[in-house]
Amino acid sequence: MIRLLSTTSTNDVARDLARQGAPEGTVVVADYQTAGRGRMGRRWLAPPGTSLLCSLLFRPHPEHARDLPFLCALAAADAVEKVAGLSVALKWPNDLIVVRGEGWRKLGGILAETEVSGGQVEFVVVGIGINVNVPPEVLPSLSPEATSILAETGRETDREQLLIALLEQTDLLYRQLRAGQRPFAQWVTRLATLGQEVRLSTVEGEWCGIAEAVDEEGALLLRTPDGALRRVLVGDVLRAH
Ligand code: BTN
Repeated sequence: MIRLLSTTSTNDVARDLARQGAPEGTVVVADYQTAGRGRMGRRWLAPPGTSLLCSLLFRPHPEHARDLPFLCALAAADAVEKVAGLSVALKWPNDLIVVRGEGWRKLGGILAETEVSGGQVEFVVVGIGINVNVPPEVLPSLSPEATSILAETGRETDREQLLIALLEQTDLLYRQLRAGQRPFAQWVTRLATLGQEVRLSTVEGEWCGIAEAVDEEGALLLRTPDGALRRVLVGDVLRAH
């Protein structure tokens, strides 16, 4: 495990270590990132010492690579529930959210980056960011949708305990995956947005519709008002209105 006070992005450090031959299971944790990344080219902001910012290195069997983002999102949700007693759902594809009435707030996210060489998966780095002890008054400066464990529970959570629970749960789910048991069904059960009317943002544009289902590859199947079923592999579910 590599622990850093500050770095650009734990995903960068893990990728560089992987290129130098670091073994599967290498973990990089930082107290602060100067260039934290989110999905779809976004930034990931977290004040120093308030959050869990880590990256896990996998050297998976090619068949298992696609399951790693689901697996880590599930492990992160389980860890938050176990350590902080806070119920966490997932918003397609892998955002950790806290559901409130009709809406939700984002607690964390997953950024999986795969290195391919000669058509083969060399390694996958899964970055996990969870807003742990971010004070409620600071959250709007991170993102209008952000929440933290502190804001939701009113209590500080030990980031070390959360990290340990995350690693234990990831280890368990990864062992199960290698034994042939995909985390897919558990992931689908945790998805909060299925069956709901959503707005979907993708690189090709935005669509509204009913988030009808997900397929085996994790793509979202959106029923648009014209009755068509659109399959989206990369995108973001936004609030419906
Ligand atoms: C998202 O929801 O868009 C994904 C956010 C992922 C953030 C984590 S923080 C640790 C790791 N390092 C990064 O630069 N990003 C991920």
